[in-house]
Formats: sequence, structure tokens, C-alpha cells
Amino acid sequence: YPITAPDDISQCVAATTGVQDPDNAVRGVACCPPASSTAPKPYVLPQFSTLRIRPPAQRLTPEYVEKYKSAIAAMKALPDDHPHSWKQQGKIHCAYCNGAYNQGMNGRSDLEIQVHNSSLFFPFHRWYLYFYERILGKLINDQTFALPYWNWDTPTGMMLPAMFEDPGPNGNPRTNPLFDPFRNVGHLPPTILDLQYRGTESGLNCVDQINTNLSTMYNQMVNLSTDDFFGTNPDPDIASRPGPIESGAHTAVHIWVGNPRMPNREDLGNFYSAGYDPAFYVHHGNVDRMWQIWRDLSPSNVDPSNTDWLNASYVFYDENEELVRVYNKDCVDIKKMGYDFERSRIPWIQSRP
Ligand code: C2O
Repeated sequence: YPITAPDDISQCVAATTGVQDPDNAVRGVACCPPASSTAPKPYVLPQFSTLRIRPPAQRLTPEYVEKYKSAIAAMKALPDDHPHSWKQQGKIHCAYCNGAYNQGMNGRSDLEIQVHNSSLFFPFHRWYLYFYERILGKLINDQTFALPYWNWDTPTGMMLPAMFEDPGPNGNPRTNPLFDPFRNVGHLPPTILDLQYRGTESGLNCVDQINTNLSTMYNQMVNLSTDDFFGTNPDPDIASRPGPIESGAHTAVHIWVGNPRMPNREDLGNFYSAGYDPAFYVHHGNVDRMWQIWRDLSPSNVDPSNTDWLNASYVFYDENEELVRVYNKDCVDIKKMGYDFERSRIPWIQSRP
């Protein structure tokens, strides 16, 4: 069976899995979407005239940072129950990752939907960012708005982008819409990121840390078959396997940014809370870029072609507040989806360990 989010989103239940300390879950485990009076419509990729070009966060102009901040501020200003609000967008991650939906529609009520640790990882997050980007663009009335990506695979990008912590004109970071109170204060810029982080500081000096990160990237991107890169399909009977970017660099960044003093390592350190930190979407912008780069590395690097993968589907509110169903098979061509990435060098290609 392809994984299928239910047509009736009211079947969603509060998050049940993966929150170690639910009584102290500061973001709340009630992560179902706002109700809809209609069933999701099959989504058709819209026509467009200009590609949205996603820029690397460390090269944004001050004007771009301001534009991005004003979009996030507009999202945060919406009432909580609006499908485009910061809170509802944050909840989506919890709903798809912490047991809020099951596979009842496909006769598998024992199988909860989990978009991690499997081949659903890249396509689910691509769709999630796709709508998030379009919603932000709509909020600032800019049809070409493109989400920045956190370019953590190149030395100049190996720290939390400064805009997330900048204190703003009056010196109070809480007035910066990109600020999140639940981050590891030991890892603020200019601390160099550790792409193998699992909770313990590496102790490496910055030159060695950068070189280690580049070899990590090489290992997780080069000479991987389709199955190795994507991981395996979810399976009710055996544990699926994640690809190396998901389990490696991607998870390391989550744990590295999340606050270890919070009961559930909020925000980025837990599935249920990760979507509340604006840095999540910029982090996943680079994860999404890795999918594209992997494909461009070799003609033999092709997407999965099995029907369970192609027909897996999720339900989102689009930028017009319309409930829509989207399929993996419709997210394999980013230019058809209306965006591309501004090029950035991939120095790790020379970093064979
Ligand atoms: Cu859905 Cu970065 O995880």
C-alpha cells in the first residue's frame, strides 16, 4: 500500500509517540490541522511565469533578510486557528511524525503515518516546504518569494545563519521574528556546526571540524544507489531504513540546534516541536537541495520508481486555504514545481575520506 493521509482529517488524534516528556511538552501535543468542510482535492501544480530562486542564507542581502523577516512576522501575526499561522504550520510536522494519523483508509489501522526513517523523508518535506514558501510569498504579496536555504555543506554556511539570532534595532532578540527561544545557546553563531553531532561536543578546532564535515558530506552523497540514498519504503512488518542524509547530517543539525535543557530538546531536537522554529524550514531547504544535487551528480542517480513510493500522498492546506492531496510522483521535478536553487559550490565533492 502507498502511505495515504486520510481524506477525513478529523481522524487525526493528538500526538502519541516520540515525545519523551509529554507533560512538559511546551509546544503542546494537540497537532491536528484546522477542520475542513470539504475533502482534499487532488492538487494540480499551478502555472507560473517566474521561477522562485532559493538563495543560500549566508549570502542574503539585507533587503532579502528584511523581506523574509516580514513574511515570517506576517505569518506569526495570523490567529492561531488560521491554516497559514505559524502555529498551524509548525503542527504539520508533529501530525506527520508523532502518530496523529493512521493508515485506516488503506485497511492498515495498525500503521501510523511516519514520514521519517524511510523513503518518504525527501518527498514529504519537499511538499511541506513548497506550501510554506507559497504561503509566505502570499503573505507579503510576492509570487516569486523563495525560501533561503541553510547552506551547511559549505564552510561559509557551517553555522546557524546570523539572521536567526540578530537582536534587531532595539537590542531585543525577541522582536526578531526569526528568533526562537528554544535553541542551544552554546551553538549560536559563530560556533561551527558538527554534521555528526549526537549530543556530545566534538572538541575539534574549526579547521578540523570543517574538514570532517566535508568528508561527512562526501560519504552521505557520493556513490549511493537509489535505495541507499532514499532509504526504504515504510513497511508495517519490518522497520524501514533511512538514507544517510536523513540519519546523518540532517539529524545532526536538528540535535545541534535544539535546546538540550528543554525536556524534549525543543524546538529542533524533537519531531513534535521542530516545525515551530523558523530555522527548520531553512535547514530543510538544504536537505531538499541535497536531493537535487544527488540527482545531478550522476545519470544513474534516479528517483524511486516503485508504485508505493510514487503514489504515497499527504494532505496540506495550500496558499489559498484549500485542502489538497499531493503525491510523491508530483514532486520529483522542482522546476515544474516553480522553484530552483541559486547555485552554491559543493566543496565536499573533493573530500573523499
Ligand atoms: Cu521532518 Cu528534519 O525532520
